[in-house]
Amino acid sequence: MTTNSFDSLHARDAAYVWHPFTAMSAYIEEHAPVIVAGDGFHLIDADGNRYLDGHSSLWCNIHGHRVPQIDAAIRDQLDKVAHSTLLGLANEPSIELAEALVQRAPRGLTKVFYTDCGAAGVEAALKIAWQYHRQKPGGPEQRDQFVCLGSAYHGDTVGTISLGGIDRFHSLFGGLMFPALRVPTPAAPGLSLDDCLSQTEAILTANADHIAGLVIEPLVQAAAGILVHPAGYLRRIRELTTRHGILLIADEIAVGFGRLGTLFACEQEAVSPDILILSKGLTGGYLPLAATLVTDEIYNAFLGDPWQGRTFYHGHTYTGNPLACAAALASLRLIEQNDVLGNARRIADVLEHALKPRDSNPWASSVRDHAIVRHKGTMVGIELSQDTASRTPFPAERRIGHRVTLACRARGVILRNIGDVIVLMPAPAMPVELVRHLGDVVFDAIDDAMPRPA
Ligand SMILES: Cc1ncc(COP(=O)(O)O)c(C=O)c1O
Repeated sequence: MTTNSFDSLHARDAAYVWHPFTAMSAYIEEHAPVIVAGDGFHLIDADGNRYLDGHSSLWCNIHGHRVPQIDAAIRDQLDKVAHSTLLGLANEPSIELAEALVQRAPRGLTKVFYTDCGAAGVEAALKIAWQYHRQKPGGPEQRDQFVCLGSAYHGDTVGTISLGGIDRFHSLFGGLMFPALRVPTPAAPGLSLDDCLSQTEAILTANADHIAGLVIEPLVQAAAGILVHPAGYLRRIRELTTRHGILLIADEIAVGFGRLGTLFACEQEAVSPDILILSKGLTGGYLPLAATLVTDEIYNAFLGDPWQGRTFYHGHTYTGNPLACAAALASLRLIEQNDVLGNARRIADVLEHALKPRDSNPWASSVRDHAIVRHKGTMVGIELSQDTASRTPFPAERRIGHRVTLACRARGVILRNIGDVIVLMPAPAMPVELVRHLGDVVFDAIDDAMPRPA
């Protein structure tokens, strides 16, 4: 019989598993931990080492691991039924979850369409927007374009990479993608909010009749390296899209469920999008599930006699999976019972303080010379470059960002880099002492990885 020692697991991992977003040749050499258990905010590997989960298991964990209430909700549901389709049938947890989401979502979002991951939720939103314009009351319009922001990231399916603006991930697939209209990100260096908005307005006005929707990550563009939008930007985008009959499609896959201190990011600018996409933290980080919420106006455009062809012919086998919906309901209850949003705001304060380079800290000079810190709520991006003024990147072959995450791992913290940006994303329920520890470890690790004067 095969034993599950680290050596055996590592060898079989190398033999059989192709890891996503992972340079496999280097990965196999690194003997990365094989996670066998979770305990609160820690992960435990096959050798029994404990690691603080500093990026919420890729930005989805909310309450920690092995949370008794979520475990129990899944087990209870397992005693009833693990899966049954939503195609022409209903199941209990998906109804309860849809109701709970609508009660908490920004005003006007009244119907929930389920999918299984973030990218699938965005794909559903794109097709809904496209079909809506062809069936809407007041006459069809053949709007066939989508607008996205510079450096956008909305997933890895062909539709979502078409909206993507991150060269490393997207440029290779040029011929495969549909063309999208791009407006500048308001986080572009040197671009003022006014200039950004006037360029955006010009593009929207010139193309208004053709644009079905504008897709945006509200307040923070996560995969772009935690790019933080200036206050007021989202509100102005809502005004511009409303003026031109363009659907505002808010991708809250990364920023939702407390990451920014409110349940949904749009709340912070009192914005109601026409379509809202949720995933990642929706189930507390337990099971794959996404929800695409729409307004009555959109939903009603799909009603009519079956033979009229207005139906949304779209869906996946595991859509509305009862186990995932039960986990999501338990997670929502915990967010409220444990004041997770209040804790997320405390985390934001701790990070704000921890991330300021201080002269008294031994690590301060390496951080000052090489790191630009971007931060909002529980989301942090530390961009490392040879020189912060010119933002000259380190040579790619040095893999500085990756080396920092290895140095973190050696100190018992799991983080992930995007190129040379180190992303910290503690779970919104993480106790603040652990967040302080996370900040200390990451700066020590940066100090370790930085070039030393000769
Ligand atoms: C803003 C945003 N949208 C979409 C996605 C894609 O989600 P998934 O990886 O679940 O497909 C991500 C994933 O990181 C994301 O951050």
